[in-house]
Amino acid sequence: MIIITGASRGIGNYIFNYFLEKDDAVIGIYNKTKPKSHLSNFVCIDLTDQNAIEKFIYSLSLKDVVLINAAGVSFAAIAHKQSIQQFKDTLELNSVASFTLIKKLLPIMRKQNYGRIINISSVVPQIGTPGNVAYAASKAALWGMSKVIAIENATKGITSNCLNLGYCNIGMIETIPHDILKRIIETIPLKRLCEPHNITNAIEFLIASEYVTGTEININGGMY
Ligand SMILES: NC(=O)c1ccc[n+]([C@@H]2O[C@H](COP(=O)([O-])OP(=O)(O)OC[C@H]3O[C@@H](n4cnc5c(N)ncnc54)[C@H](OP(=O)(O)O)[C@@H]3O)[C@@H](O)[C@H]2O)c1
Repeated sequence: MIIITGASRGIGNYIFNYFLEKDDAVIGIYNKTKPKSHLSNFVCIDLTDQNAIEKFIYSLSLKDVVLINAAGVSFAAIAHKQSIQQFKDTLELNSVASFTLIKKLLPIMRKQNYGRIINISSVVPQIGTPGNVAYAASKAALWGMSKVIAIENATKGITSNCLNLGYCNIGMIETIPHDILKRIIETIPLKRLCEPHNITNAIEFLIASEYVTGTEININGGMY
């Protein structure tokens, strides 16, 4: 069973449709954006609600779980103008919700001796993009969390990794003004955005790779 958060829009929705078209068993999690099709494959959960996550997991009979944590938020503000509440809200979804799902799924994965945890992180904490202090902190948190979980569960058939995405041609990038986006693309050695199939290629690799764990794959066109 492949569980994908953020499946209603952007990258998560692309991943959801990719696996659905392959006839894999898929559950997509959405919150405010109600999907227009494949409703039986979707569940509505506010991922900041830990009880709702717990209820969802216990309502299913899960086997061979692949968890793809793709839901994410970002509030643009430079550090001294960032509200503490927005900082906390960013961590609440990007880090705490990802951890909550993992924590609740780990007992099932450990019992079955199989699990794949794939956390969608970002190039932003690697390069330190101004205006992204909360987002950078929340995505860097995924690296440490993911590594510890990988080591704690290494003998249980469970792998845990992060995909550090650069700027992608889908999703939250649509909020970036055209002129700024043009300048961003100039900073990418490959001089183009990441296409969504580059992400599903890496996900397929991680699902197939029982010896790749506790690490990160940079999908960023050569940014550093
Ligand atoms: N796009 C990029 O260039 C890029 C680059 C690097 C990393 N990333 C990362 O890739 C992931 C996907 O990004 P995206 O661009 O596809 O984002 P997006 O289009 O803004 O979609 C965000 C998703 O997160 C879900 N979400 C937000 N708050 C939620 C909550 N409280 N509970 C449940 N779901 C919630 C949204 O669901 P609803 O709409 O249903 O509420 C939506 O499906 C994120 O983790 C992002 O940080 C993206």
